[in-house]
Amino acid sequence: MESNIIQKPDGKLGVLIVGLNGAISTTFLAGIYAVKKGFAKPIGSLTQMGTIRIGKRSDNNFPLIKDFVPLASLDDLVFGGWEIRDESCYEAAKYAKVLNETDLNNAAEELKSLKPMKGVFDQNYVKRLTGTYVKEGKTKYELMMKIRDDIKSFKELHSLDRVVVIWAASTETFIPVSEVHKTKEAFIEGMKNNHPDISPSMLYAYAAVAEGAPYINGSPSLSVDAPAIVDFANEMDVPVAGKDFKTGQTLVKTVIAPMLKARLLGLSGWFSTNILGNRDGEVLDDPGSFKTKEESKLSVIDSILQPDLYPDLYDNYYHKVRINYYPPRGDNKEGWDNIDIFGWLGYPMELKINFLCRDSILAAPIVLDLILFADLAKRSNMKGIQEWMSLFFKSPMHSPDVVPEHDLFIQMMKLKNTLRKLMNESPITHLDTNGVAHRIEDFECYD
Ligand SMILES: NC(=O)c1ccc[n+]([C@@H]2O[C@H](COP(=O)([O-])OP(=O)(O)OC[C@H]3O[C@@H](n4cnc5c(N)ncnc54)[C@H](O)[C@@H]3O)[C@@H](O)[C@H]2O)c1
Repeated sequence: MESNIIQKPDGKLGVLIVGLNGAISTTFLAGIYAVKKGFAKPIGSLTQMGTIRIGKRSDNNFPLIKDFVPLASLDDLVFGGWEIRDESCYEAAKYAKVLNETDLNNAAEELKSLKPMKGVFDQNYVKRLTGTYVKEGKTKYELMMKIRDDIKSFKELHSLDRVVVIWAASTETFIPVSEVHKTKEAFIEGMKNNHPDISPSMLYAYAAVAEGAPYINGSPSLSVDAPAIVDFANEMDVPVAGKDFKTGQTLVKTVIAPMLKARLLGLSGWFSTNILGNRDGEVLDDPGSFKTKEESKLSVIDSILQPDLYPDLYDNYYHKVRINYYPPRGDNKEGWDNIDIFGWLGYPMELKINFLCRDSILAAPIVLDLILFADLAKRSNMKGIQEWMSLFFKSPMHSPDVVPEHDLFIQMMKLKNTLRKLMNESPITHLDTNGVAHRIEDFECYD
C-alpha cells in the first residue's frame, strides 16, 4: 500500500465472470438485479449491509461500510464473462435450480440479455465437463492473448473505466507449483510450449493482470496463486485474491476451531462430510478436482490450532473431509461435522454440527463483496496478494514468509482495520486502555 489517497469510483466498473452461467454466477446476478429493483435486500453482503466502528467505543460511531469507504455503486456495474456452453444466463439459471420461479422471472429480461464469450477450456483439467463453446488456438499463449482481446473489447464496447475479473468456474485438477510457475519468463515460455502444468484458469489470471484488471479466484485451483503471476501482479500494480470461497462447512470450522483453542480444549478427531448434487458436486466427483478441493479444506484446522505450539492438545488428531455427489440434493448441500474433543483430565466430549445450507446462496454475496473490495484495492494503489480479503476464502493466498490467517474473527479485524487505515482512521486494537493506561501512553489505540 503506497498511499491512502483513493481514486473515486467514477464511471462504470466492468465485471467479467469466468463461469458466467454457473450456479453461483447466475444466483449472484439474479440477486443483484433483484436488489437494484427493490425486490430483495443484499443479505449476506458485508459491503452492502455491514457496519464499521470508527473511533473510541464511547463515540458510538458505526457507519455502514459502503458509506465509509468509496465503493462502486451497484448501478455502475456492467456484467459479462466467459462460458464453455452457448446458453444465456437465464437458461443456465433455470438449469441450476437454485432460485424459484418468481425470483427468476424478476431478473429474466436481464439474464436473457447476458450471453457469454467463448471460454478457454481443456477437458484434461476438468474431467467431468465437455466444452462446446470454446476458443481455438495453437498455443496456450495464443489463447491467453485472446482473453486479453476480450477484456479490451468489453471495456471499449461498454465505455468502462475499470474491469475486475472473477473466477467462479469449475475446480480444475490438482496441479502443484512447479518450475514453470516460478518465473514470468518460464511461464511465458510454458504458455508458448503448451506446458501441461499451465491450466486454463492460469491463462485467465495472467490475461487479467496483463490488462491491469484485479483478479479473484473463487475456486481452489492454483490459478493466480502461481508465483510467476503473483510477481507479475506486483509488477503491474494489480491486486489479486483467492482461493476458494469460504461459504459453508469451512466457514463453521474457522469459528469452532478458534473456540477450542481459546479454551485450550484438545482435539482427537474431526470428521467432515457433505452431500451435494449440483454441477460443482459432479465436477468434484472426479478424483483430480476433489484433490484440489480437499487440499483447500484440510489446511484450515492445522493452521488455526498450531499443533507445534500445543502438542498435548493438537498433535495427533484425525482429520477427514469427504464430499459426496448426491444428485437429489441439487444446490442444497448438507454438511455434517463430528468433532471429538477432550477437556480437563482428558475427559472426552463430542460436538455435532449439521448445516443444511444452500451453496450458491452463501456464495453470491461474497462474489459481490470481493468485486467491490478488489476494485477499491486497485483505486487505492494496492497491489499483489490482498490478504485483508482472507475473510472470504477457505485457503487465503499469502506471501511465502507468513502463514495464512484462517480465524474468521481475526480475518474480520484485519479487513476492518485495513479499511480504517485506508481512510486515515486509527486501527482498533481492543486493548484495555483503562486497565493498562499507564503502560501504553505512547500508543494511539482504542480499546
Ligand atoms: N458454492 C459454493 O459454496 C462454493 C464454495 C467455494 C468454492 N466454490 C467454487 O466455485 C466454483 C463455481 O461453483 P458453482 O457451484 O457455480 O459451479 P457450476 O458448476 O455451477 O459453475 C461453474 C461454471 O463454470 C463453467 N466453466 C468451467 N470451466 C470453464 C472455463 N475454463 N471457462 C469458462 N467457463 C468454465 C462451467 O461450464 C459452469 O457453468 C467452483 O470451482 C466451486 O468449487 C463454490
